[in-house]
Amino acid sequence: MNNKVCATAKVPQFNFPDLKNQRVIVTGATSGIGRACAIAFGEAGARVAVDHTADSKDDAAVVVSEIEAAGGTALAVLCDVSDENQVERMFAKVVAEWDSIDILLANAGLQQDAALVDMTLDQWNTVISVNLTGQFLCARAAAREFLQRGIDPAISQAAGKIICMSSVHEIIPWAGHVNYAASKGGIDMLSKSMAQELAPHHIRVNSICPGAIRTPINTAAWKTSEAYEELMKLVPYNRIGEPSDIARAALWLASDQSDYVTGISLFVDGGMTLFPGFASGG
Ligand code: BGC
Repeated sequence: MNNKVCATAKVPQFNFPDLKNQRVIVTGATSGIGRACAIAFGEAGARVAVDHTADSKDDAAVVVSEIEAAGGTALAVLCDVSDENQVERMFAKVVAEWDSIDILLANAGLQQDAALVDMTLDQWNTVISVNLTGQFLCARAAAREFLQRGIDPAISQAAGKIICMSSVHEIIPWAGHVNYAASKGGIDMLSKSMAQELAPHHIRVNSICPGAIRTPINTAAWKTSEAYEELMKLVPYNRIGEPSDIARAALWLASDQSDYVTGISLFVDGGMTLFPGFASGG
């Protein structure tokens, strides 16, 4: 199959589940997967808090106006998720504005790649702080709000939904990225342990594990046709993922359509985790 054709293939249209009146915080909402999810949540009728860092204020304003232009409601919130005080302030601000929250999409994440022997403690700490500690801090704040409020049947069958953005590197080891892979492996047990603890309170916790998605974080993996061809050796479905592939999964996990689903890692990866090398070897 011609990879160039696949590179521009359109992903199917989607009927958004109804998230009317629900209030969602999307962390890292100014680019890539977070941005696509924030906009999709807005289209599904949710009120969207668009989390951004100090240097992505303008991008957040663009996401907010895109949601508003489509008839939705959005609010930009400044928060570095690795900072406990800033996380507390973000939740307080959204609750003050909209009374409560119903969904957390803990998406903020970054890569700082280096060979193990060259990796600095700062690179290690930065990635673990944002990708893993940031998810803990946001999930804890969300769970506290869900627990004190309980179920509002007019909104959802659950008292709240937490969606953790993980990665195929939750289970695929990744040389040259030990900090990132460790953070995603940590999210696996963080989200499943939270799911076990919170299920009796009707709070659902699930993870999404994206494979290679066309976003700024991995431009080098798809920008040139040579890189794209190499990447496709790892993707049996033979196309790169689009941010909308992930947004559709996030909407489903946030909606009552998945009401009996908790504690899963939903791999959205075109088969990247199917050990593609074994299709012709082993
Ligand atoms: C990483 C990308 C990478 C993909 C598949 C993601 O979690 O952020 O850089 O392309 O995994 O390896």
